[in-house]
Amino acid sequence: MANTTSAVGSTDAESTLSSDTGLTATATATVTATADRAAAPDLPPAPDVTPAPDVTPAPDVTPAPDVTPVPDVTPGPVGTATEPLKLAVILGSNREGRFGPVVSDWFLSRTAARADFTTDLIDLAETDLPSALSFSPGPRARAELAKVTSRLAAADAFVVLTPEYNHSFPAVIKSLIDWHFYEWQAKPVGFVSYGGISGGLRAVEQLRQVFAELHAVTVRDTVSFHRAGERFDDQGRPEDPVGCDTAARTMLDQLAWWALALRDAKSVRPYAA
Ligand SMILES: Cc1cc2nc3c(=O)[nH]c(=O)nc-3n(C[C@H](O)[C@H](O)[C@H](O)COP(=O)(O)O)c2cc1C
Repeated sequence: MANTTSAVGSTDAESTLSSDTGLTATATATVTATADRAAAPDLPPAPDVTPAPDVTPAPDVTPAPDVTPVPDVTPGPVGTATEPLKLAVILGSNREGRFGPVVSDWFLSRTAARADFTTDLIDLAETDLPSALSFSPGPRARAELAKVTSRLAAADAFVVLTPEYNHSFPAVIKSLIDWHFYEWQAKPVGFVSYGGISGGLRAVEQLRQVFAELHAVTVRDTVSFHRAGERFDDQGRPEDPVGCDTAARTMLDQLAWWALALRDAKSVRPYAA
């Protein structure tokens, strides 16, 4: 099997080289012609190959004028050239004894390291939106909405931190989503999920459907902690910081791209909802 794979690989490489340069094809043709002549003495001798004419030496190249060296600029995170993006991080677990804050503390340390976002943590354990929706909310609902609505409206982008409960996301996240509408529109949403064996991935996939209905754009890459309780030490430090830091950077880079693109687009024309 290994040989087969290797042979196929070489053939592919040769054909690529051949089609790119013609070099392999030329070399192969020459070898074949010589071998044929040795086997069939009747063939006329191969003509002398005329030596290639002397190649005119290349003229001296005038050295390029001194150019002031361009300073090495390490590209900054997306968006540093503009006003930082406002990122609302929604901590979606309000369960008594929840694990969520361990995940959100780590994630906030990742956003704090970036210049392209300012971050607002919306902890759903600090709100108590009624489960009964209303178009004319009473004082209690209005007081709870006052804690979150303007913050959602101000956000350029969202990250939802969600655990997985019974193959879905917690009801408190759905409640927050359903109490709002325009606040989500034409904005990107990223996910950090955690749970048992699934790492919260089923919760995330369901949230994608919900956010699509709200004209929000979910970014492809997510951060996911399988068996989350085993992924952090007693101080809340991730056991594999490189892996999860890389995943967070990828997701946040995508989120920043969408957030900037949509913010710029909305500054030119309103979103066509
Ligand atoms: C009611 C309930 C249902 C759960 N269902 C799932 C599940 O379907 N899949 C999974 O991987 N983990 C499941 N878990 C495990 C949780 O995702 C995990 O304990 C997570 O840490 C819960 O987040 P929290 O502590 O912040 O509330 C469930 C936990 C609870 C409490």
